[in-house]
Amino acid sequence: MKRQKRFEKMEKRSVNKDVIVDEWPEEGFVAMHSPNDPKPSIKIENGVITEMDGKKRDDFDLIDMYIANYGINIENAEKVMAMDSTEIARMLIDPNVSRKQVLEVTTAMTPAKGQEVINQLDFGEMIMAVKKMRERQKPANQCHVTNFVDNPAELAADAAEAALRGFAEEETTVPVARDAPFNALSVLVGSQTGRPGVLHQCSVDESTELQLGMRGLTSYAETISVYGTDKAFTDGDDTPWSKGFLASCYASRGIKMRFTSGSGSEVLMGYPEGKSMLYLEARCVLLAKASGVQGTQNGSLSCISIPTAVPNGLREVLGENLLAMMYDLECATGSDQSFSHSPMRRTWRFMGQFLGGTDYICSGYGAEPNSDNSFAGSNEDVYDYDDIYYLQRDYGQSFAIHSIKEEDAIKIRRKAAKALQTVFKGLGLPEITDEEVEAAAYADVHEDMPKRDRIADMRAAQELMDRGITAVDVIKALYDGGFKDVADAVLNLQKQKVVGDYLQTSSVFDSNWHVESAVNEGNNYQGPGTGYRLYKDKDEWEKIKNIPQAIDPEHFDM
Ligand code: 5AD
Ligand code: CA
Repeated sequence: MKRQKRFEKMEKRSVNKDVIVDEWPEEGFVAMHSPNDPKPSIKIENGVITEMDGKKRDDFDLIDMYIANYGINIENAEKVMAMDSTEIARMLIDPNVSRKQVLEVTTAMTPAKGQEVINQLDFGEMIMAVKKMRERQKPANQCHVTNFVDNPAELAADAAEAALRGFAEEETTVPVARDAPFNALSVLVGSQTGRPGVLHQCSVDESTELQLGMRGLTSYAETISVYGTDKAFTDGDDTPWSKGFLASCYASRGIKMRFTSGSGSEVLMGYPEGKSMLYLEARCVLLAKASGVQGTQNGSLSCISIPTAVPNGLREVLGENLLAMMYDLECATGSDQSFSHSPMRRTWRFMGQFLGGTDYICSGYGAEPNSDNSFAGSNEDVYDYDDIYYLQRDYGQSFAIHSIKEEDAIKIRRKAAKALQTVFKGLGLPEITDEEVEAAAYADVHEDMPKRDRIADMRAAQELMDRGITAVDVIKALYDGGFKDVADAVLNLQKQKVVGDYLQTSSVFDSNWHVESAVNEGNNYQGPGTGYRLYKDKDEWEKIKNIPQAIDPEHFDM
């Protein structure tokens, strides 16, 4: 066929590299509303749920049983289940109905009912609902801190820079499993150098991750994954009860934690049972609720290519975030893994979470270039910082990060690498040289760093565990090496685990170690004139307005 010139050029646009597919409900390729989704129903006898979403108690699978026993507010359930789903959906965006009044209704919904309510909302309405339903008054953000060779000095420098830019939480992981203790340690020192009170985690296998937390080398955990069908769950040798037990392990040591789930995982694992992604995710959200954890990280996450391949995919993703809030859970609202070649789709990916404002707008902003992101690349990374800063300024809307001066970045990166150098020396770990410290101050990617002996690092990381090193040893090394302020910050983090206030829903620390959470700084949005507004937050708005690129008209030389 002779090509039409415009069509020929359009075909080459980046968006056309993205893979999209038609719906295929039998295999779970449907974001919302599968013909196989159950109809909402409930029957309660003597305080026990004997029927849920069309299934009798005898026919419950593990997930049904767990949710029915622990997840649903039984007191209001029969009344709520009899309500029209459109009416519940309207409450979500009605400024005359408070968040608390909505929660009395929405915490009593079964998974099928939750899904049915979300199905009533278009994208704009979901944004309105998120404004009211998120837990904390002020939004925050979370980033990834990784590099492909697990270079410790670079990890510390990137962690410090990200903390200075305002991220409330930092998440690291490893390309090489045995590096985990070094990564946790590096991000611990880096984050507390950048801004005391930033929380951090190291996403690795569950046993190692829990040990790192118990030793004080991390301060929260998040990738406690749950899935929406029994088969997907048990394929990973887990049950809802094993996850619930793991949650209690963290809580008993005063370590903040949340669950992780998201649409598309069951499809990828091959066990969607013909159900919609939203319905399966509603089950996951209720599993988190039933386990008594204070929150969840959801929004498809690493499976984002699946919902975004089918119609209504990104509407569904904001919908599942909103659903978590409707069950009164803290929500780190996705936007981590990259999914699209199109700059326009990439930006729209986070628009709902950004404009609605969520507890953690991204669940993994890349605080390193994507080439060094060992979580497989994020939808937004360091090179997007300025675009994000402009968007915040354009809309008077918070992304919960802000610009920093180049000289301040160099200074804090150097200090973090130096502090880690001191800790390595104090703990008898392989040397971090002065050359590495200097390189870390100026580095962008791991190729900018001198090469380390990776075998020696791996051995030392393992030995660090065998020797029983804890945060106390780190504090001592920092103190002895002259980094008293960083030592104090690491010590304070440990004290907070004893105090336990930061186990509250949506907790973050402000710069004075004061916990801001749903309990003391809860979201009171109820229409215009209420709630958090960046353009009314004087200090924060100054930082957003006065980005270095802005020209001062009074001192402008032609
Ligand atoms: N469902 C459940 N867990 C997920 N993770 C990422 N995406 C999902 C999802 N859709 C978790 C996994 C992974 C970590 C990075 O996050 O545990 O290992
Ligand atoms: Ca995350």
